[in-house]
Formats: sequence, structure tokens, C-alpha cells
Amino acid sequence: MGAKRRIRIMVGTGAVALALSILVALPTPAHAAGPGTPPTFSRDIAPILQQKCESCHRPDSMAPMPLRTYEEVRPWVKSIVQRVGTRQMPPWHIDKTIGIQRFKNDRSLSDEQIATIQAWVNADMPKGDPKDMPAPKVWSDGSKWQLAEKYGPPDLVIKSPDYTVLSVAQDAWFRPTVPTGITEPRWVRAIEIHPATVKGRKVTHHTLARLRQDEDIPKELFTNDPNVAGDGLFMEWAVGKNGDEMRPGSGRLMLPGSKIVFEMHYHAIGEEITDHVELGVYFYPKGQEPKHREVLALFNTFSNPAGSGSRALDIPPNQVTTTESFVPLRENARIENFQAHMHLRGKGMSMEALFPDGRREMLSQVTNFNFNWHNMYIYEDDAAPLLPKGTILHFLAWYDNTAGNRSNPDPDQWVGWGDRTVDEMGHAWLNITYLNDEDFKAEQAKRVAATTTNDKPQQ
Ligand code: HEC
Repeated sequence: MGAKRRIRIMVGTGAVALALSILVALPTPAHAAGPGTPPTFSRDIAPILQQKCESCHRPDSMAPMPLRTYEEVRPWVKSIVQRVGTRQMPPWHIDKTIGIQRFKNDRSLSDEQIATIQAWVNADMPKGDPKDMPAPKVWSDGSKWQLAEKYGPPDLVIKSPDYTVLSVAQDAWFRPTVPTGITEPRWVRAIEIHPATVKGRKVTHHTLARLRQDEDIPKELFTNDPNVAGDGLFMEWAVGKNGDEMRPGSGRLMLPGSKIVFEMHYHAIGEEITDHVELGVYFYPKGQEPKHREVLALFNTFSNPAGSGSRALDIPPNQVTTTESFVPLRENARIENFQAHMHLRGKGMSMEALFPDGRREMLSQVTNFNFNWHNMYIYEDDAAPLLPKGTILHFLAWYDNTAGNRSNPDPDQWVGWGDRTVDEMGHAWLNITYLNDEDFKAEQAKRVAATTTNDKPQQ
């Protein structure tokens, strides 16, 4: 390991200058040319943009502008420096300094990549030799099933009804319900979801699919909210992430009579577009059912007054409010992911484990929550927390209902729980695999073996 040094990056954003300190491990050079020579667009910046931005920032995709060539990037430099420096882009808002850091779907920039972008801007953005440009990336047609190569075509395709986004319109949330039509229980091993057409991708900001079915498991295993029925998030779509595969040996159970409740966030782009969303489900073959069931849990970060049926979220005007909740785990659990769900006043949420032996461990924290992005942070196989029964999950959430919160439509309003964006929510979506004592011990033993045979530094 090289020495660490702190570099300070000043990012100008109009009148405000943001100071951002990042730790960079030396002697890694900040860019391919080595110290002394400034990075160039062709050699150093284009590969970063290709790897971390182009999945969305290309024609016919969701982002407002393509970022492939010098000419395309140049007018956006100021905004890029600001968004990248504050880690708003790529959208990945989990706190990099707190808790578990290894995720399956991490799309963030490394500290070194941010430093390279900054060094390039400081050097007045040299274009460099066009011969150094990486070969253009060929993107597969987004309307095809990405997981088909691995599993063949999906076993079940569920389509949302068509929706027309007018050329000029307010953002719309469309939530149709579609029956799955299955007649026997089936185990799901992978899910994919996407807008049906290239034009549809432009107006579909994000898509969620919830699975609604009568659950056969005790309610406290999947919610602390007495109002919630068997209703979980099944899959989220955002460009750059098309498919979700279950962890080996586990799957999601779809029951006869189940329905998919879609949620599409549509936004107008100056052209009338009609489209729908397709959800592809890949089943485990019959006879190869997985041993473990993954359950989608919704845990509120606040309590519900007994018997009242209401969600006790009470956010007075012009102040910062916090809520917390404690969820005892009735069974041994492996937490597969963390996703914070809040609205416009929501600023952050943390999830901490209070172990039966008194130990406490902060698992994850989203510090700069951004309502535009419903990111699901999926832990790596050997990083997903293993929590013995009796562990208490502690959730803390904070909401900024002051004028200092730029997303706040009206800091003078009292805000309560509700569906509308101007109302508020505060819950965590977790995929949880519950394990019996024997399987739990086996999982723990696997981790111990992996950390002793593996030189990887502990995260
Ligand atoms: C998952 C898709 C996705 C990825 C990956 C992504 N972006 Fe974005 N980006 C968007 C979308 C959508 C918007 C517009 C909505 C918003 O601002 O959140 C946006 C907005 C921006 C903006 C603001 C544009 C403006 O109006 O000022 C900048 C700058 C930006 N992205 C830069 C980047 C850079 C640089 C990367 C890679 C390092 C990147 N983005 C990666 C989807 C993405």
C-alpha cells in the first residue's frame, strides 16, 4: 500500500465553491500519462465517460445529453465537475465513508477517476491526440432481453398498458396493475424490465414493479407497518441496470393469483410518445427450486401508533426532523440490499445492526438522498450482512423541510405521510433471506474461510 495523501479539490458552482477532500492512494498516478503531464480528453477522460456515463448519456437513452466526444462534453464541463464532485453523478448516493462498501451494482466513480477529471479541467481541458480515443462503444439494442444469453428468453413477459406522454406535460406517475396469470407457485431466479421502445426510454424516468400477493409468512418478517399487505418491490428499472439475478440458492416466490403493480415515472420531452413497459421473469426450472426464499421487506423508519392505522410521520415547517425505528429480527437473516425510499424533504437514512451480544455495526447510510433516483444498493455475495436472530435493525431517517433544501417545494408547509410527491415517506426496502440455524452457521463459516484465505483488505 502506498502512502495516502489528502488532496483538496475546489469546485466552483456559481457563487458557491464546494470544497471536497478525497483520499487518494499513492503512488498510483492520477492518470495514464503519469505525474507532470496533464490528462487529455482522448486518452484519460473518454474511457471514464465510456465506462461510467455512456450507459445513460448517449443518444436514445435517458440522460439529457450524450457524453461521447470532446465536442459533446465541452459545453457541460462546469456542470459535470459539480455533479461528479458532489457524487450526484453517476447516480450512486450511498455514503462512501460509512458501512459496507462492496456492491454488485456499483456504478460510482473511484476517487482517482474524480481526481483525473478535476486535473483535466484544471489543465484547461486539453483535447489530446484523437488517435488516443478508445474505440466507440457499441450498445446492444435496449429492447432485447439482456439475460436471454444466459437463460434463454424470459419464461413470462408481463406488459403494462400503453401510456401517452404529451409533448408538454407535468411529470406523471402511472401505476397500472396487471395479473401475472400464473396458476401454480413458481420460483424466480432473475427479472428484467425495460420500456418497450427506444423512444419510450426517453420519457421513462424510472420504473418499479411490485409483486402483490397473499403472503404465507408471518408479517413481522417483511414489515413493521400494520397497514402493509403482501406487497413488495419486485424490480426496479433504470438505464444502466436492466436485470436482477437472485443470489445462488435463493429465489423469489410468485404465487397463483399474484399481480404486478407497475409504477412508471414519465416525463415529457417535447414530442408526443406512446409506450409501455415489459417485465421479463426467468423461473427456476421445475425440480430445481432454490433452498432459500428471498423476501422483500418494507421497514418504516418511524412507528405506527397501535391500532390507528396511520403512519406517524409528522414534519413541521421550516425545520429538520428525524425519525427512527427498531426492528427485532425473529429469524437469522442475510440482508441482500439497502434502498432508502423518501420524497422531496428526505435527506438521509441509515441502517445499523444492534447484535444480541451488544455489538453495534453501521451497515449502510444514504447521506444525500435524491428523490429522482431510487437506487438499490445490492451487497456483494460475501459482503451481505449476516445477522443472527435477535439482532435489532435500527433505522434513522432525517428530513429537511427548510428553504435550505433545494428540492423543497414549500418550506412553510407541514408535511405528513402520503403517496403524493409533496407528501413524505421514510422506509427502507430490503431483500432478506431468512436462514435456519444450520444454514446460517454454514454461511458464517464460509465468510470466515473466505477472509482467512483471501488477502483482500477488510472493508
Ligand atoms: C443511470 C444513468 C446515468 C448515469 C450512469 C450517468 N448519468 Fe448523468 N444524468 C442522468 C440523468 C437521467 C440526468 C438528468 C436528471 C438528473 O439531473 O438527475 C443526468 C444529468 C447529468 C448532468 C446534469 C446536466 C444538466 O442539466 O446540468 C450531468 C452534468 C451529468 N449527468 C453527468 C454525468 C457524468 C459525468 C456521468 C458519468 C461519470 C453520468 N452523468 C452518469 C443519467 C445518468
